[in-house]
Amino acid sequence: MSENQRNILVTSALPYANGPIHMGHMVEYLQTDIWVRFQKLRGHRCTYVCASDSHGTPIMLKARQLGVSPEELTEKISADFVRDFSDFGVEFDNYYSTHSAENEELVSEIYRRLRETGDIYTRTIEQSYDEKEGMFLPDRFVRGTCPRCKSDDQPGDACEVCGSINTPESLVDPLSVLSGTTPVKRESEHYFFKLSEYEDRLRQWMSEAKLDKNVVAKLNEWFDAGLQDWDISRDAPYFGFKIPGTEDKYFYVWLDAPVGYLASFKNLCSRDDSLNFDDYWNADSDAEVYHFIGKDIMYFHTLFWPAVLQGAGMRAPTSVYAHGFLTVNGQKMSKSRGTFIMARTYLDNLNPEFLRYYYAAKLGPTIDDLDLNLDDFIARVNSDLVGKLINIASRCAGFISKRFDGKLADSLPDPDLFAEFANASEGIAEHFEKREYSKAMRQIMALADKANRYIDENKPWIMIKDEERIADVQRVCTQGINMFRSLMIYLSPVIPAVAKDAREYLNTSDWCWQDAATPLLGAELPKFKPLLTRVEPEQVQRIIEQSQENTPVAAVESDDDTISIDDFMKVDLRIARIEKAEAVDGADKLLALTLNVGDTARNVFAGIKAAYDPESLVGRHVIVVANLAPRKMRFGVSEGMVLAAGPGGEDIFLLAPDDGAKPGMRVK
Ligand code: MSP
Ligand code: ZN
Repeated sequence: MSENQRNILVTSALPYANGPIHMGHMVEYLQTDIWVRFQKLRGHRCTYVCASDSHGTPIMLKARQLGVSPEELTEKISADFVRDFSDFGVEFDNYYSTHSAENEELVSEIYRRLRETGDIYTRTIEQSYDEKEGMFLPDRFVRGTCPRCKSDDQPGDACEVCGSINTPESLVDPLSVLSGTTPVKRESEHYFFKLSEYEDRLRQWMSEAKLDKNVVAKLNEWFDAGLQDWDISRDAPYFGFKIPGTEDKYFYVWLDAPVGYLASFKNLCSRDDSLNFDDYWNADSDAEVYHFIGKDIMYFHTLFWPAVLQGAGMRAPTSVYAHGFLTVNGQKMSKSRGTFIMARTYLDNLNPEFLRYYYAAKLGPTIDDLDLNLDDFIARVNSDLVGKLINIASRCAGFISKRFDGKLADSLPDPDLFAEFANASEGIAEHFEKREYSKAMRQIMALADKANRYIDENKPWIMIKDEERIADVQRVCTQGINMFRSLMIYLSPVIPAVAKDAREYLNTSDWCWQDAATPLLGAELPKFKPLLTRVEPEQVQRIIEQSQENTPVAAVESDDDTISIDDFMKVDLRIARIEKAEAVDGADKLLALTLNVGDTARNVFAGIKAAYDPESLVGRHVIVVANLAPRKMRFGVSEGMVLAAGPGGEDIFLLAPDDGAKPGMRVK
């Protein structure tokens, strides 16, 4: 271990365990994983922890809606997260849940210390209350007309049309989204954290933490507006931890969520004797702590969280690294365009290394949004990874294995050229360190161009025809393979699976960053296997189609967004009789149904294959959306949508009308 080995703890934001991981989330987990792998490759002690964010009202309600306990729901979803992350090569040292014993203990202890320092007080506030549901409503669960621009159906926090900051109380004609009833005002005692007294300490922290200038600008805006004390309690019913000493008050999810970073780390420490919790979290710790987050949750991480830590006598993070939001083809991800792509849908079709590289090629240290342009994705991956990088090896490896028994030459014909690859090391490392991945990728690809040019100029395929120059072919190819090897080391945080295969080809059990500067000579190499194949446009097309296919039946995944009665009346719901039902070749989830909706026969695809035997459906009456614009799917055109309920897979239930309903009848 070197003298200047750093001890680093890294986190990604804890994903809410109420829905699947999508391509937007992956920006963050890949950005973090690349940074962590880079630090480890450099020989530092870097620990990466994460967890599922399991608490809060939306999770409680979602569980209720699905008829399961919140524990069951979050455990099941977390299991999916773990698979998605791991298949994308995201390597956590620990993945945990905020609904854990360690977290409850830590949040209670932090709360106790904050009380001791006098940073907690109680105040009675008035809040919207849904009498029918028997619960207080979070701001977003109340909707009504914006008092400023008069747009109807706006949430009780910020107007989506004019941006005005509203409260449930300021809305005109507010309604509870849970019951549709008018909320009443009700008083309740809440617990507050005196954030307002932390301004000086936070300003001090801001000047020490190496924050992006956009983050500093945001913080200054918040300081200028004045810091408000923070309401850290919620009333029952709530899924979370009960506040010690109370009967029906719970910690607000955003208090125990960041404490989940500590809990996940603590849980890891209990298994790993070489890690000591206090070494990382004591006020005088010299370990480094970094939180990677999206720009939407900066307030929590750059104000509340450092203040809470300081108040509890602990250290604040070394820095908070915020990134921007993902757009796909220049627009917000959209289910109807098929660009709301789940991590799993990508994984079903494409090599995760491609996305890792593409995001790296686009990522910088700022909170600017980044775009996944699917045409550019195909072009970039094919040209950079396959055309440039892998090509260096495939152009040289064949000669080495066929003509030289796999043996590399004992010296390099162009040591100066190799030195350029070796000397690039610190510059590239600095780019990684500063999260300037796009710069690092550009520099690496410029070197790959150089390596290819070298091979072009030396033409081993011509030299090989000349008996006298055979030895030169071995040397030229040894040069090529060594340039490839250095680049692979630099890229191994980004494309770890390809790097692992390359390392195996190079007969090396493990390598570190510094190895890129020393050439591999005289070694005997196995036969070279192609490391990557091109992305085909059809694969990307399939992802889009399947992202549309993922929502083949209504009422499975409901968005938080509500619609007006007018919107609802546009939907033409009809009774249909299933005349024919059959499996679709190549589709795991779909059945092709021929429906009698009172007019001509219609063809509809429904994602109910796991739940229904096609034969059992023939003759059944179901409810369909009859005026849905025909959609072209991979397997044909779908001319409607069959309604069903349930979480999906085997648990999906067709909605069936009572006897007497006839094909074509309108459903009202
Ligand atoms: N549970 C909170 C975080 C608690 S941290 C103590 C949360 N969860 S989340 O699931 O909504 O988001 C997890 C992370 O993914 C956040 O950092 C968020 O910014 C990021 N992203 C979610 N959608 C994203 C995009 N479309 N694009 C980029 N990042 C996005 O917030
Ligand atoms: Zn408005």
